[in-house]
Amino acid sequence: MGRFTLLLLALSALSLGQPSPAAPLVVLLLGPPGGGKGTQSEFITKRFGIPAVSTGELLRAEVKADTPLGRQIQGSMAKGELVADEVVNSLVAKRIAEPSARKGFILDGYPRTASQAAYLDRLLAERGLPKPAVIVLEVPEQEIVNRLLARGRADDKPDVIRGRIRVYEKESAPILKHYPNHHRIDGAGAPEEVFRRIERILQAKTRD
Ligand code: AP5
Repeated sequence: MGRFTLLLLALSALSLGQPSPAAPLVVLLLGPPGGGKGTQSEFITKRFGIPAVSTGELLRAEVKADTPLGRQIQGSMAKGELVADEVVNSLVAKRIAEPSARKGFILDGYPRTASQAAYLDRLLAERGLPKPAVIVLEVPEQEIVNRLLARGRADDKPDVIRGRIRVYEKESAPILKHYPNHHRIDGAGAPEEVFRRIERILQAKTRD
């Protein structure tokens, strides 16, 4: 065996020993209002080191800062209606282009319409990102209402909560057929317990 061949063999043995850089992890955390999306996002961020992008938070920040966009959307948010797709899509596109989202991210509460799901497909493909892991939190309606009444955010009033649940059932739940491999998770129980169910799925995904 020549010296050149030996060198090539030694180099390939070295590169085999190197851990390959982990692929980015994209997680969609979906489910009804009060399902625990925000709570579970925090656990995922801590465990998997990827930032959470909550469209609800991004929109509330616009309202709080009283920007022209904030003034435009505050009525729909107060009523628990969905904000226009173009508005939400452009906020998401901007956020995931930031360097902190390079290794992946969690989308909390996005997409919620068929058109947002189609937009996200294009966005992920353009950025060379993998297909997302889709987690759907399921919680009985009465438990949702109890959780949200106890929290008391501006849109946590009984009639608005019921309206948000109906919007979820009509507009958002149907888009799950866009993700045939989604994982339905029982969202009831202690937050740590719910996280362990999610963790098992994401661990398997990161091993793929
Ligand atoms: P958003 O802020 O996303 O509200 P939401 O979907 O109604 O969800 P919540 O924040 O109420 O609940 P969550 O599932 O995050 O649960 P959380 O962890 O907070 O959206 C608000 C509005 O913005 C929408 O109505 C719409 O107008 C607009 N919007 C947002 N995204 C949009 C989009 N993509 N397109 C168009 N419009 C959009 O938990 C809730 C409470 O329960 C907390 O108090 C928590 O401590 C508690 N809790 C959580 N887990 C548990 C548990 N396991 N046991 C007991 N309590 C728990």
